[in-house]
Amino acid sequence: MSNKLVYIYTIGCQMNVYDSEQFEKLLAPLGYSRTEFLEQADLVITNTCSVREKAEEKAFSFIGRLQALKKKKKSLISGVAGCVAQQEGKNILDRLPYVDFVIGTHAVARLHDIVRSIEISGGRIVDTSFNEDIEEYNVLPEYRSHSVSGFITIMRGCDNFCSYCVVPHVRGRESSRKPDAIISEIRSAVKGGRKEITLLGQNVNSYGKKEGLPSFPELLRMIHDIEGLERIRFATSHPKDMSDELVKAYKDLDKLCKHIHLPVQCGSDRILKSMNRKYTSADYFEKIEKLRNACPDIAITSDMIVGFPGEELEDFEATLDLVRKVEFDNIFAFAYSDRPFAPAAMFEGKMPEKERKRRLNELLDVQDEISKKKNVAMEGRTEVVLVEGMSRRSNSDSDVADSEPVQWTGRTDGNKVLNFTVEQDGSGSDVSIDLTGKIIPVVVADGLGHSLRGVAKLKNLDL
Ligand code: SAH
Ligand code: SF4
Ligand code: F3S
Repeated sequence: MSNKLVYIYTIGCQMNVYDSEQFEKLLAPLGYSRTEFLEQADLVITNTCSVREKAEEKAFSFIGRLQALKKKKKSLISGVAGCVAQQEGKNILDRLPYVDFVIGTHAVARLHDIVRSIEISGGRIVDTSFNEDIEEYNVLPEYRSHSVSGFITIMRGCDNFCSYCVVPHVRGRESSRKPDAIISEIRSAVKGGRKEITLLGQNVNSYGKKEGLPSFPELLRMIHDIEGLERIRFATSHPKDMSDELVKAYKDLDKLCKHIHLPVQCGSDRILKSMNRKYTSADYFEKIEKLRNACPDIAITSDMIVGFPGEELEDFEATLDLVRKVEFDNIFAFAYSDRPFAPAAMFEGKMPEKERKRRLNELLDVQDEISKKKNVAMEGRTEVVLVEGMSRRSNSDSDVADSEPVQWTGRTDGNKVLNFTVEQDGSGSDVSIDLTGKIIPVVVADGLGHSLRGVAKLKNLDL
């Protein structure tokens, strides 16, 4: 079989990262392996995101670069995948003559057939049909692990229709994969070297409800029994559906990392209503209290939108108040952006970009102080870390002098990045063992703005 190279450019959320991995697996039987060098590629796939205007622009600016590349290399095949592909479909082929195919969010498993058909008979293909059968993911072959941690999509689509959001329109209706399929894929991932799995869905709390499958906490319990799997994470949870059963799972399941991403979006009840989020800030506080009562150390993160149409200063103040009151470990904050199909694009009270940015920066400043304070409070504590590899500073291409100790990087249970050195008894020197994939205790020395720094004592490591 000939050796061909595919370059996959991934924008957007973890679901796109997962789908890009599926693309790689699906293309292997056609003789493709992945390259990190665009110029070498025989096939380029741009896996796109449409959640904000900026993400869409980023996709088109990358795709635009392929025009020159295709002039140099006539045989290059270029495809657009993901949420912008689903949204724009044939328009992309009409606008961009150097794109050969457009593959929608429900067509992932058909990539192999699309590429083979273009290789054999040329032509241009658009496949954006919706396919309700999410079991298509199950046809995928064995795992080849690139890293100790990986994603698994357990459900597709979304039925919540938040008024600002494009996702339900480009990912379709919510559907859940069967537990058997999920468990066998996780087993295969663990066999391939993965220690940590993040379960993905737009709202994992409604997992299986439509299909009459086990509930999400029940699924967690089944996954917990998988031998060799060390850590379980998940994203995302919609606050309206977070159950007491899930809170209990944090208490009962050792492998479930003590972190929850529970996006509140905003602190004003009036705006939450207009966003169609179906909870109030009081409901949200109640959920946070339950989580913290059950699990006092749990790390809590959120997504926030500022500058939603009609957001008055007092609404924005309510968001700042909520952020101060909850004291999130971290937030992902965005300036509101009009999206196709999303009702909010038609709402009154749009705000100039300058004011949206000003509010965004103010919110980020408030959170930065909280994040820093929380990280400093961790100084002196021992955190258990899953080591992901050497930190960037220690890679061979860095200009750090050889005499500096090797720096490792990993994540704490609460999902904070902890960079650390290893100390032999008293000597302060580093050791030449590979810690990648190990789960080890590390003492936090410094709490920084967005990460932690620490030291692992060799005598404490059970290697
Ligand atoms: N299903 C997840 C979120 C998926 S989109 C959930 O419900 O939490 C990720 C984040 O992008 C959202 O949480 C929201 O904060 C942000 N987002 C979505 N649409 C947006 C828009 N039109 N403008 C700005 N931010 C948006
Ligand atoms: Fe978008 Fe809301 Fe669905 Fe999340 S829950 S994907 S924000 S519609
Ligand atoms: Fe973006 Fe689609 Fe994910 S719009 S955030 S890639 S579901």
